[in-house]
Amino acid sequence: MENWLVVGSGGREYALAQTLAKVPNRQVYVAPGNVKMNQLPRVETVAIEEMAFPELAEFASQHDVQCTVVGPEQPLSAGIVDYFEKKNLPIFGPNKQAAQLESSKTFAKQMMQKSGVPTASYREFTDLTVALSYVHCQEPPLVIKADGLAAGKGVIIANSSQEAMAAVEKLTSTGSKKLLVEDYLQGEEFSLFAMVNGTTFVTMPIAQDHKRLADGDMGPNTGGMGAYSPVPHIDDRLKQEAVDQIIKPILQGMADADMPFNGFLYAGLINTASGIKVIEFNVRMGDPETQVVLPQLKSDLGELILQLKQGKQPEAEWQKGEFYLGTVVASRDYPRSVMNGRSLPVITDPDVEISYAGVEQQGDQIVSHGGRVLMVTAKAATLKAA
Ligand code: AMP
Ligand code: GLY
Repeated sequence: MENWLVVGSGGREYALAQTLAKVPNRQVYVAPGNVKMNQLPRVETVAIEEMAFPELAEFASQHDVQCTVVGPEQPLSAGIVDYFEKKNLPIFGPNKQAAQLESSKTFAKQMMQKSGVPTASYREFTDLTVALSYVHCQEPPLVIKADGLAAGKGVIIANSSQEAMAAVEKLTSTGSKKLLVEDYLQGEEFSLFAMVNGTTFVTMPIAQDHKRLADGDMGPNTGGMGAYSPVPHIDDRLKQEAVDQIIKPILQGMADADMPFNGFLYAGLINTASGIKVIEFNVRMGDPETQVVLPQLKSDLGELILQLKQGKQPEAEWQKGEFYLGTVVASRDYPRSVMNGRSLPVITDPDVEISYAGVEQQGDQIVSHGGRVLMVTAKAATLKAA
């Protein structure tokens, strides 16, 4: 048996564990995971929190873990990879320095500028009064962003200078020390994921996630209420453009700056009238995009990761001609608040796959625990049928 460790507890980690455990001679541990993961073959949860680096490293060492895969951004930004590598434990993810591509928007912007990667032009502010007078005399719409990790809640699109000023005040009053004001980009958004070792990488099929809470693109932004992949209107030519103009130069830029990137790179892109531009980078897989992307992988995910780590260029094989579409079942008041302890919906359709995220054991029942509770994913020959 070969042991792997996945860090995290949501739907993304559910899909990562499920995909890694497709290989019969592999045991996948998930820390802390969620109770439903234990129902997957060869998957077992371990009661260690995702930020408890010494305990995670101890577990990996004692279980002779082949490689640890990190799901969420918080442990990456806090240096879980540096911690493991100091102890010579194999792990797939960016170190703390490289994780700044997600944890600091100003770092990401500067790195993009240096590497010639197209993105919205921006100004950076640390002084409230200066920021207010700047947005006051700019032509709306304007995009106001807080600098640090904000779980998708640190971006406000202002359609008037009043809204822009209110946004600056709101983000400042909620503790943001640094703000970015950037140009509003218009176009189709899509996500491109790559598995990376330095400047060697493997890309995945394009995905789109549904960021707004409600149907018809209404309501507040969420972590993602659903996703689908592949995306028929982002064709191979556009994907190649994204690889050549974004993925390759940013990885080269990171390597040149002595911060080679490792792990999953998530490029949040937008196809504007003047070409593809970066909305943001994340240093991990997307949630819920992972749940619709990974089922398309015909190769073994673990083998791809190991080959990359050995400095090889792996060949990944992806399913063709099938579309995956998933929709999230969330707590009633998500994303404002959560209502735990609700019974889960009974889903009997044999043609859908369910990935569990916010669930826990309560007595002899499994109940909801968290904002996004589960995702139901269907696959079909057309996106519409899915
Ligand atoms: P982010 O947290 O940077 O991904 O931003 C969240 C969402 O805000 C994105 O998915 C976009 O829909 C929107 N957004 C962010 N930046 C811009 C921009 N410069 N122009 C237009 N929309 C943006
Ligand atoms: N679905 C968006 C994200 O994972 O950040």
